[in-house]
Amino acid sequence: MEDEQSYDKARRKILWSIVNGLYLVGSRYEDDCNVMTCSFVTQVATSPKLVGIGVETGSKSAELIENGKAYSLMFLRRSQRDVVRKFVKPALCDREKRELNGYSYEDGPLTKVPVLKEALAFAECSLYEKLHFESHVFFIGEVLNVVSNAEEVPDGTPAADGRVLEVLRMEDTNMHYGG
Ligand SMILES: Cc1cc2nc3c(=O)[nH]c(=O)nc-3n(C[C@H](O)[C@H](O)[C@H](O)COP(=O)(O)O)c2cc1C
Repeated sequence: MEDEQSYDKARRKILWSIVNGLYLVGSRYEDDCNVMTCSFVTQVATSPKLVGIGVETGSKSAELIENGKAYSLMFLRRSQRDVVRKFVKPALCDREKRELNGYSYEDGPLTKVPVLKEALAFAECSLYEKLHFESHVFFIGEVLNVVSNAEEVPDGTPAADGRVLEVLRMEDTNMHYGG
């Protein structure tokens, strides 16, 4: 029993060491919308341009993405860790004020899915494929549109370390997810 517990702990620690960014995912169906913090994010193909996200089964976001067939992926600055803490429960969506948990948003120009004005950059994705697992649904979205608000990289020129954007990563917080 103790062996099982210590193996479980060790396994979790190793899986936690997978390097992840921290993003926000926006979703919408009819008048309801949401934004959630998401770290299970990866590009899965270049042609077509596909990006996958793992979203908890039964979450509000999973339901909205299933029905709305689109999502937005928002990239944040390394200094924006307080923003991700605000989106770990279903968000309060005020369509009249255009606010989610008090943060101003706009509708993505192609998908009408919410995008926070705070975002450094965002991608609008249309649902392409999905895989259901017990804990999560892996949604694969086709990237329809990418918009960058980053003044520091107007032409997308990579920084000295090769990165185009300095985005928030799990290691910038004291949080873990998955494992
Ligand atoms: C650091 C961190 C990373 C997270 N990553 C994910 C993730 O990749 N997928 C996910 O479904 N939930 C993730 N969550 C939990 C969701 O943000 C939270 O359960 C979600 O807001 C609830 O979903 P809902 O608002 O759609 O109901 C993460 C939470 C934290 C604190």
